[in-house]
Amino acid sequence: MHPEAFRRSGHALIDQLAAHLARAHERTVVVSPSPAPDELCVRYPATFPMEPATEAETRAFYTRVLDDSTQLHSPRFLGHQVSAPLPEAVLLETLSAFLNNGTGVFEMGPASNAMERSVLGFLAQKLGLPQGSGGLLTSGGSLGNLTALLAMRQARAGHDAWTLGTSPDLCVLASEETHYSVARAVQILGWGKKGVWPVPSDAAYRMDVAALGPALVAARAAGRHVLGVVACAGSTATGAFDPLAGIADFCAREDLWLHVDGAHGASVAMSRRHRGMLVGIERADSVVWDAHKMMMLPALVTAVLFRSEAHAPAAFAQEESYLFDGKGANWWDSGLRTVECTKRMMSAELYGALYLRGTRVFEDHIDRTFALAQSLATRITNSPDFQLAIAPDCNIVCFRHVPSGPPLSAERLEALQGELRVRIREQGELYIVQTRLRGRLHLRVTIMNGLTKEADLDALLDAIRAAARKLLE
Ligand SMILES: Cc1ncc(COP(=O)(O)O)c(C=O)c1O
Repeated sequence: MHPEAFRRSGHALIDQLAAHLARAHERTVVVSPSPAPDELCVRYPATFPMEPATEAETRAFYTRVLDDSTQLHSPRFLGHQVSAPLPEAVLLETLSAFLNNGTGVFEMGPASNAMERSVLGFLAQKLGLPQGSGGLLTSGGSLGNLTALLAMRQARAGHDAWTLGTSPDLCVLASEETHYSVARAVQILGWGKKGVWPVPSDAAYRMDVAALGPALVAARAAGRHVLGVVACAGSTATGAFDPLAGIADFCAREDLWLHVDGAHGASVAMSRRHRGMLVGIERADSVVWDAHKMMMLPALVTAVLFRSEAHAPAAFAQEESYLFDGKGANWWDSGLRTVECTKRMMSAELYGALYLRGTRVFEDHIDRTFALAQSLATRITNSPDFQLAIAPDCNIVCFRHVPSGPPLSAERLEALQGELRVRIREQGELYIVQTRLRGRLHLRVTIMNGLTKEADLDALLDAIRAAARKLLE
C-alpha cells in the first residue's frame, strides 16, 4: 500500500462520509430504502473490471452504497438496537482494520490483547463483579450467549461435557421474553427445544420471580437437568429489565448458574442515574454486554464477563500447538476463550472509544435516550389515539395507533399496525419496527441516536396519524 495513495483515498472517503453525515442530519436522505431485493441486485451486478476503478467511479460506488443503506445517523432512525457509531469509533475500526492483527494469540495482537484485558476489567468493575472476574470480547451478543452457556454447561453439567459430549436433558430456565439467540445457542448445544424451559413474565414483561420455583419443579419432573437461569437486562421486544436481585436469590438458594443477557441493557452501568436497574447483576455468574448497542460502537463488539475468570477457558479446553504454547490457560491469548480463531481487533474500538472520548459521553447517551423514551411514552399516554403497551424501562417504546373516528374491528386494528409500519418505512423519512406482544402487533421504537429530538418524536406520531388516514380512506 503506497502511503500517499492511501492518504489521498482516505481523505476522499472521509470527505464523502462527512457530507453524507450532514445530509443525514439535515434529513435529506432516505432513512431506510425499500427497493425489492431482486431489483437492488441489479444495481450490484457480478461484473468486475480487470483494472482499478477511477476516482469518479470510486466516488460513485461509495455514493451508491451510502444511498442504498439504512441511515443510522439520521435522528429519525428509530428502529433496531444498533448504534450510530461515534466518529472516533469509526476511525478506530479503520485502525483495527489497518493493523489487522488477529488477536487470538498474544504475539499476533499484543496491544489488542492488553487493551482487551484492561477494558474487560473496567466493565466488570462497572457491573460490580468481584476481583477474579474476567472474560473475553467476541463478535456479537448471539455468540456471547453461546459462549456463556458453554461455560455454564462445563461448570454445572456434572460431567466433563466438553470432552465427553453433552447429555440432551440439560436445560436453562428463561423468561418468555428472552432473545432468540439463547434458544438458538441451546439448540446448537444439543439440548433440543425443551433446553429452554419458559418462565412466565409479569404484566411488565419482566420475569416473574414467583414463577421460577414452579418452573424448576416442572422442568425436573419432565426429566430435565436444570443448569441455570437466563435473565434479561433489557429484553429485546420491550426493553424490560428482569428483577435481577430476586433471580440471584433464587439461583443462590437452588445452586443454579445465573446468566444475565445484558446485550442491550448492561450499558446502563455507565449511568449513575439508571444503574440501580442492574442491582443483582453483580451476583451473576456470566453477563453478556453489547458495546455496539448502547455504547455507540460499530457492530460487533461484545463482552462476555464471568464472575470467575477460570470459566472462560474451561469452556474451550483445547490444544492447538500451532497457536498456543500448551501451557494451559493464560489471560494474554484471547483465542483460548472464544469460538473465534482469527479475531478482529475489537478491543481497539472499545478501549479506544473510552480513552479518546472519556466515559461521560456514554453516561449522557444513556440518560438522554432513556429520557426521550419517557417523553415519547408521555406523549402517547396523553394522546387518545395511541395506546402505550407498557411504561418503558429504557429506550424502547411499544405502542399501537387507534385512529379516532368510527371504531375499527379488532382484526382491522391489528392489520393496521403492520400496514402503518410498512407505510412509514416506504415514505423514507422515519424508520420504526414492529413486535408482537402477547399476540398483538405493536409498533416499536428504539431511540438509539443521541441527536434525536422531541420534534422528531412529534413528527413520528404525526406521520403515523397521516399514514393511517390514507390507509383508511
Ligand atoms: C437481549 C439481546 N440479546 C442478544 C442479542 C443478540 O445480539 P447480536 O445481535 O449482537 O448477536 C440481542 C439483539 O438485539 C438482544 O436484544
